[in-house]
Amino acid sequence: MNVTVKSFYHAPSGTASYLVVEPATKSAVIIDSVLGFDVASGELSYTFADELLAYLQAQDLNLVWILDTHAHADHLTAAHYLHQKTGVPTAIGSGIAKSQAHFETTFYHHGVGGGKHAGFDILLDDGAVLPFGEESVQVLATPGHTPDSVSYLIGANVFVGDTLFMPDAGTARCDFPGGDAAVLWHSIEKIHRLPAATTIWVCHDYQPNGRELKLNTTVAESKRSNIHVAHVSKQDYVNLRNSRDSTLNAPALLYPSLQVNLWGGALPQKEQNGQRYIKIPLSQQRKD
Ligand SMILES: [Fe+2]
Repeated sequence: MNVTVKSFYHAPSGTASYLVVEPATKSAVIIDSVLGFDVASGELSYTFADELLAYLQAQDLNLVWILDTHAHADHLTAAHYLHQKTGVPTAIGSGIAKSQAHFETTFYHHGVGGGKHAGFDILLDDGAVLPFGEESVQVLATPGHTPDSVSYLIGANVFVGDTLFMPDAGTARCDFPGGDAAVLWHSIEKIHRLPAATTIWVCHDYQPNGRELKLNTTVAESKRSNIHVAHVSKQDYVNLRNSRDSTLNAPALLYPSLQVNLWGGALPQKEQNGQRYIKIPLSQQRKD
């Protein structure tokens, strides 16, 4: 038995969302959904998430899991919205608790707290297995980019979030709180130990040199030609990653993303005037 993979590309944030279908039972899982957000106007858009729901309905599919590979820092997850619409449980890596703890003071206004897992139905440890029709979703903890990063292995497909990019794009930054290039190196080794023909599905493709969009590669190809890790020592990789990260700006949607995604996509609670707010904590440039 195998599964089919349908990708949905959210161009404004450059994010790939996946809808994986187990055909025998017409079961489906959604991985890394997107809620549209225009930071200049504060306007939310449900159009992209509604496309996923429309596809499920048109194909007569039974959604069984709403999954995120990690708390993204560059777009808002639609997990909470999809859960509200379908009642289907949401899940993320159990490392999310560390990120929530790190940011709960900064985003004190969010107000979710209290829930079973502060916004998520299920937190997933390494090795967890989720039932998925006649298939299963195997959870591989792949921290490094963020502490909560997991990859989802479904049949001969692995959905890696930002643990790997396409071979000509390398790997993701590790400078968010709890990120660690040496830890990411070991997570990439874990992905590269999967069978060579396994298809790797990425969450972003930055299309180096203007090439066309590509969302998948194989374990064999990634091992052979990923520009950051193939034929490179761990120490050289860590040095490269850390020096690149020191030059990168904060993602445009960093604070909006974190204060929504860390709590499963639930929006911050309404304030006394009945309005919800996304907040940006101010800081002063250090003069060392
Ligand atoms: Fe990410």
